[in-house]
This record gives sequence, structure tokens and C-alpha cells, in this order.
Amino acid sequence: MKKVIYLDYNATTPVDKEVVREMLPYLQTHFGNPSSSYSIGRYSKEAMTLARKQVADLINAKPNEIIFTSGGTESNNHAIRGVAFVNQNKGKHIITTAIEHPAIIEVCRYLEKLGWEITYVPVDKCGSVNAKDIKNSIRSETTLITVMHANNEVGTIQPIEEIAKIASEYSITFHTDAAQSVGKIEIDVQKMGVDLLTIAGHKLYAPKGIGALYVKEGTRLNNLFFGAGQENGVRPGTENVPYIVALGKACEIAMLDFDKNTNNMLSTKTMLINELRTKLNNKIHINGSETDCLPNTLSIAFLGTEAHSLASTISANLLISTGSACHANSIEISSVLKAMAIDIKTAASTVRISTGRHTTEDEIYTSTEIINEAIKRLS
Ligand SMILES: Cc1ncc(COP(=O)(O)O)c(C=O)c1O
Repeated sequence: MKKVIYLDYNATTPVDKEVVREMLPYLQTHFGNPSSSYSIGRYSKEAMTLARKQVADLINAKPNEIIFTSGGTESNNHAIRGVAFVNQNKGKHIITTAIEHPAIIEVCRYLEKLGWEITYVPVDKCGSVNAKDIKNSIRSETTLITVMHANNEVGTIQPIEEIAKIASEYSITFHTDAAQSVGKIEIDVQKMGVDLLTIAGHKLYAPKGIGALYVKEGTRLNNLFFGAGQENGVRPGTENVPYIVALGKACEIAMLDFDKNTNNMLSTKTMLINELRTKLNNKIHINGSETDCLPNTLSIAFLGTEAHSLASTISANLLISTGSACHANSIEISSVLKAMAIDIKTAASTVRISTGRHTTEDEIYTSTEIINEAIKRLS
């Protein structure tokens, strides 16, 4: 059977073999509830303690600053709703950007319905937010600034340190959604100066349905859930021990193999760009920043070729994603590309190709052949 090439690692990643090996005992022999005081309960508790340290080490946090969650969406909800509600007597204004993931934007929309005011700061044509625009949006009622670390569609990395300094000057809590950046670029919460940071396991070779929220010591936020006292009472519910163990191991691997992984993502992405440039006679347009960009993410328009037709034509051999949603008779351009003022034709021909830590040069070469052939057929 011919192997399908997967170049959509921003959508999700396969679970690392070592991660699977590490988590399996906690599904079977070590199945105890970490709140139970007998041996198998203690094994689970000890495993969680190790995992918390592994996650904390990857981002230079303290273990007690890590809360395990069900993934990026929950972490974002907890951060935004938690900070909004705990501060509601102080003010009801939140600052975010126009290019956030729905797991941020939809939480903001929900809060708008409850009476909060949200400022969606625009971005430039590369998808970068200007820290000065964030500063100019601050009001006396602002209680939270949330800006994603790296964009999921175009890969643009935001000036988080600069924004964190501004937030701190005004004593405003600062959250960053790092779902796409953890494991791809260096994350150091001390250097970045953030109060809250979102991690999504399935973007870094852990399973889907596990994540974490970094909460800097002293940061005040309300609970999302109420129940027993797990996670220091902040996120109650019997812990998903096997997946927590998996996230810990995935973070350990991400840290140990950081240079090797990042170099591979970047070199395969660079080869991809060069091959496509050669084959398609420069009939391409790259969206986003060439410099401040995730090492693995390429948002590219094949000018004159409709992205959905391309992605579906090649889907038996190569898996990539598009930058727009296709409805019955129309194409809805992604809100990210719209916010970057990418013209409709370019946006409609944009695909996202994202490489992984094990992507090979062979896969890249074959992928560019597949794309080139399909574009010839479609034009
Ligand atoms: C930037 C960003 N934030 C949040 C999420 C949501 O994470 P999860 O799928 O773990 O809920 C994603 C997933 O695509 C993402 O790319």
C-alpha cells in the first residue's frame, strides 16, 4: 500500500512511540486513582508529580504553576473566563487580537454577550500585532490581555515579551495561547514575562484531549469547574493519569531533542519553499513573516489554483489543509488571512503546509512533485 504523506502537523501530531510506551501501564496495571492512599494510587500520584515537573521544565516554570486540562481549548477558556470573572468588579474590558484561534475568539464573543467589551487589535500584512497598538487599547477597566504566541495558520510569532512588559506596567494579567509554539520554538515563561500560558498536548506528539495551563504564582483566576479538590481545587475531576503521563513524557522529549526537531522542521520547510519556487516559476505567494515564523509552518498561495480543489485532488497522496472554508456556493476566507488584508483571490488559493520532526527530504521532494502535477492538471 502506498504511504500517504502527512504535512499537516499544525492540525495534530501522531503520538510518539516512547510516549505511548510510557502511558500504557497507567491504562492497565497502574490504574489507581491518584487520590487513593494505597500502592497503585500512589503510583499514579507519583507519575503525575513527575509529569508536572516535565511540563514545568520545558517552559521554565515551577511544577506548582502547572494545571492539567483537557487541551488547548479548555486552557484558553480557563485563562480568559477565570481572569474575567475574578476581576469583574474591577472592570470588564479585555484586549486580544484579530487573528486568535476560535478557542480564544469564541470565549471573547461569549463574554461580550455577558457585558464585557473586547478590543480586537488588528495585525499587519505579515500577521504581526504591534505592541504599541496593544498599549493604546488599554483602559482603566482592562483586566486581561490575551495574545497568541504563534499563529496556527500562518505561523507568525508575536512580540510576547514586549507586550508582557506593557501588561505588567499597567498591572494587567497577560495570557498567551502557546498551543502551536510549545515544542517548536523556545518557551521560557520567565523570559517572556507571561502570567498564563496555554499548552495543547496533541500539537507536540502527546494524545488529543490533554493539555496544561501555566498559572504564574499569585495570579488570580476563577475556576471553570467545581467539584472535589484535585489540581489544588483549581481544576477538579479525577485526573486523566495516562494522558498526563503522556504529556509529561512528550514535554521531556521536546526538551531533550529540541535542536534536532526544530532543525528538521526548518530544513524540510526551507527545502519545500525552494522546490516549489523552482517548480512553479515563482507563481507562488507566501503569507506571513519570513523571519518571525514557526520553523514548520508555510502558508502559501498557488496563484490561480483554487486551494480546495488542490487539497482534495491530492488527498489520496498528500495531506495538507486550506486557509478557507468551502460552503455550498461560496468560499469563506479564513479570518486570519482577512485580518492580514490578503486579497480574496490569494486567500482562496492558500494552503497551509506544516512539517513535523520526522518529515524527510524524500517526502518533501515527492510532495512538491504531487503539488506540481496537480496544479498543471487543474489549470
Ligand atoms: C493556536 C491554537 N489554540 C488552541 C487550539 C485548541 O487546542 P485543542 O485542540 O487542544 O483544544 C489550537 C488547535 O488547533 C490552536 O492551534
